[in-house]
Amino acid sequence: MITVPEFKIRKDSGQKITMMTCYDSSFAKLLADSQIDVLLVGDSSAMVMQGRDSTIHASPDTIAFFVDSVARGTAGEKFIVADMPFLSTRKSLHYGMECAERFLKAGAHAIKIEGIRGNEKLVTHLVESGIPVMGHLGLTPQFVHAFGGMKLQAKTPEEQDKLLNDAKRFQECGAFSLVLEVVPTSIATKITSLLQIPTIGIGAGPGVDGQVLVLQDLLGFNPSFTPKFLRTYLNGNELFKQAFQRFHDDVVHGNYPNEKESYS
Ligand code: KIV
Repeated sequence: MITVPEFKIRKDSGQKITMMTCYDSSFAKLLADSQIDVLLVGDSSAMVMQGRDSTIHASPDTIAFFVDSVARGTAGEKFIVADMPFLSTRKSLHYGMECAERFLKAGAHAIKIEGIRGNEKLVTHLVESGIPVMGHLGLTPQFVHAFGGMKLQAKTPEEQDKLLNDAKRFQECGAFSLVLEVVPTSIATKITSLLQIPTIGIGAGPGVDGQVLVLQDLLGFNPSFTPKFLRTYLNGNELFKQAFQRFHDDVVHGNYPNEKESYS
């Protein structure tokens, strides 16, 4: 299992870091047998698991529930990062600490925070308390309404300067890694070269230290979700539908169960 100090070693050696979201123990078991480095219990769970229209519906209760399921599936074999859900870092230092404590006790090894502005004190306090923090900048989905939709971020030189400053602030506060989401390749590559901590991209091009994707997206579960950055590795939507149809057909045609599948 990758450890926090190894994130930096990976960056320095140029060996890329792979991260995938995971929300249940069946997929966690499969991923525990894979070479994927990090499992992210993200707030995208609100969308892919709960059918909500944005990540702002994720709550400490749901994140803790998914972390618990994933941790039991991996049985200590994978590094698990839990997302601090919408506003959990903004209510008070105490509330933020309580959420992080809950996620670590549920089985996470680190937490991820969207945005650094206004979160410096919490990030520093978490890090000084032994809770590793992964930063998240760029198209941070909890800011969807402020951004006016899910759009490419850091397009202008001013926005790119702000992004670089925020990345440095995360590093200064002690974050051990940084997710960069849907930003131009050039600025993601520049930030990666200027930071000592590794960057993990999603829609941030190839010049970062690792990549993350949402498991259901990578498996092609939702054919209508086609952002430019997404590569699907399975036609999951079609394959799962075919399996469901075959089960249905076998049952209605009397082909399931057969004698071998029945008890005498
Ligand atoms: O919740 C999530 O899936 C995420 C990734 C997109 C980085 O935060």
